[in-house]
Amino acid sequence: MSAVAKSAPAVIVGTPPFDLARIRRDFPILDLTVNGRPLAYLDNAASAQMPRPVIDRLIQYETREHANIHRAVHYLSETATAAYEGARGKVRRFLNAREEREVIYTRGATEAINLVMHGYGRKFLTEGDEIIVSQLEHHSNIVPWQMLCGEKGCKLRVIPCDERGVLDLDAYGKLFNGHTRLVAITHVSNALGTINPVKDMIATAHAHGVPVLVDGAQAAPHLAVDVQDLDCDFYCFSAHKLCGPTGMGALYGKAGLLEKMQPFQGGGDMILSVTFEKTVYNVIPHKFEAGTPHIAGAVGLGATMDYLAAIGMDNIAAWEHALLSYATQQFETLDGVRIIGTAPEKAAVLSFEVKGVHPHDVGTMLNEEGVAVRTGHHCAQPVMQRFRVPATARASFAFYNTMAEVDQLVAGIRRVQQMFT
Ligand code: ALA
Repeated sequence: MSAVAKSAPAVIVGTPPFDLARIRRDFPILDLTVNGRPLAYLDNAASAQMPRPVIDRLIQYETREHANIHRAVHYLSETATAAYEGARGKVRRFLNAREEREVIYTRGATEAINLVMHGYGRKFLTEGDEIIVSQLEHHSNIVPWQMLCGEKGCKLRVIPCDERGVLDLDAYGKLFNGHTRLVAITHVSNALGTINPVKDMIATAHAHGVPVLVDGAQAAPHLAVDVQDLDCDFYCFSAHKLCGPTGMGALYGKAGLLEKMQPFQGGGDMILSVTFEKTVYNVIPHKFEAGTPHIAGAVGLGATMDYLAAIGMDNIAAWEHALLSYATQQFETLDGVRIIGTAPEKAAVLSFEVKGVHPHDVGTMLNEEGVAVRTGHHCAQPVMQRFRVPATARASFAFYNTMAEVDQLVAGIRRVQQMFT
């Protein structure tokens, strides 16, 4: 395999609600050729690419602003603290949270869910309590709850989905009983793209007095999220799926809940005072941010929030919807290709099987054509079990993708089929 800078820009078909050619120029990596072909990067659900303004902000931080935060009165420490806390305000606006103290920085969605498991689940759940998850969850929103069940003797209840990948909301309603203590559901399925009706599902849970954690790892990059409108109790996302840095993310939690929770990790910054007899914890959000955090990650996340806000999440959703619709139409013209996940409400994810070809071979051969897709179980093995497949190939789009890249994908699949028949 080889990767070099390419000279010709991608051909763009369609009418995005923003200047797509200009946007693409913000992403240096999109200029690569892979195996002599223009790169068509369609693995955005795994990790999206970073635009120049975010890269430049990171360089600025590392070269002109870095010091530890909350710890000193010198210029650099105050500058770094202002950048770190300023980014928290940008995340608050992105999620429309009421208050900045409701935004906790984490390593990503996975750590955010683990934080809620430790901070809320281990404190408030006991033997016989039940947690509702869905059949569409990825491992990050299953395994922490199973760990809690193992420790406390709680029980996991699972909302089933149909052959399209749509959750059965009648079954969901029937899962509630006097033991239900928490609902943990994904906003968008990473393996299928289904957009779950989380606002209605939250209302159902609240009618039973049960709080809801929404895993927004695959939704926040594609939809405008409003945690007040959803009325969710917790919401989390990862920065790297939003064109921000890896190792960074955020957890939103309602202040009243966060205040009642126990800390996730102990250490510096999460305390007000420490003696050998007793530690008094800091206020939220600091109670949940022990030790020196990923300061550069927070600064980069803030720049990412600015970048996405300038394009507009509704514009992003509209263009990605156009890409998904076009790709779905094109796939329907391909004999021997089955789309897995056909919910009417979908984000920009297209999982598929090519008859007679193992998904890994599909991925390998598409790579020969310069097309990057993910193959495997997508960290969602129960979804694969539900659809009776060991794995799928998955194309996932971002706002910087073009219709020409969809054509490149479809042409690549035709070539895969020629090779194997
Ligand atoms: N959860 C990520 C994905 O869907 C890694 O690919």
